[in-house]
Amino acid sequence: MLRVEGLNKVFDSGNRRVEALRDVSLEIRKSEFVMIVGPSGCGKTTLINIIGGLETASSGSVLLDGRQVSGPGADRGMVFQGYSLFPWLTVRKNVEFGLKMKKLPAAKRRDIAERYIELVGLKGFENALPKQLSGGMKQRVAIARTLANEPEILLMDEPFGALDAQTRVVMQELLADISRRTNTTILFITHDIDEAVLLGDRVYVMSRRPGRIREILTVELPEPRNHHCLVMAEFQQIKSHIMEMLWQESSDAAMDK
Ligand SMILES: Nc1ncnc2c1ncn2[C@@H]1O[C@H](COP(=O)(O)OP(=O)(O)O)[C@@H](O)[C@H]1O
Ligand SMILES: [Mg+2]
Repeated sequence: MLRVEGLNKVFDSGNRRVEALRDVSLEIRKSEFVMIVGPSGCGKTTLINIIGGLETASSGSVLLDGRQVSGPGADRGMVFQGYSLFPWLTVRKNVEFGLKMKKLPAAKRRDIAERYIELVGLKGFENALPKQLSGGMKQRVAIARTLANEPEILLMDEPFGALDAQTRVVMQELLADISRRTNTTILFITHDIDEAVLLGDRVYVMSRRPGRIREILTVELPEPRNHHCLVMAEFQQIKSHIMEMLWQESSDAAMDK
């Protein structure tokens, strides 16, 4: 469904030149949950922003269903670490926002919003304002709002990065469950190895900057993916493999300096 081919990105600002990505290629099939894990500063946000059309590549291409991506579009729904909710709108109105832009009739909007509010476990909070919600709940609203627009793929950049450890696991379980129930195609970026292994059908491991794809792993864990998986032998095995790779990257990075 999504194909990234030979992506390169160099930031050139006057006398400062930063090579962020080098020859990055990846493929995501319909309904797949793909994780990208890599050290901080390796170019993950740059990569997902290029796929989202918020940033342009220096060279290479991004194809969604065979069509070249050249800017932002409703076919790609993005969820970031910051909640990006409208603080003056209720939960329901936040979720309905994109539908209103699409000029859907009020009754239809309400129906769809209700469905997604329920899906993320916020039934009963329809009329709350963002400031009345916890971080995890705000991120639930952001997810519901993005899903309500029915994108072909969900692009998530460290969406749970600001949450405490327990809330984070609860949100990971929620997202695993949503992905299984709705067959949404998800590309999820993180620097958290546990998160990558817990959620991914496949995990792309990136090198240090310039970000390259070092390895692609398939994760075979029993369904449903939840906190019980964290203590399984298969989980630990993949985790230590990725840790080893990322350790090597950071010690090599230290030698670069
Ligand atoms: N707009 C920009 N201009 C110049 N450099 C940038 C810009 N955006 C990101 N970078 C640099 O590109 C590298 C990768 O950044 P980023 O994609 O945010 O990494 P990550 O998300 O993996 O932490 C960093 O060195 C960062 O400083
Ligand atoms: Mg980032």
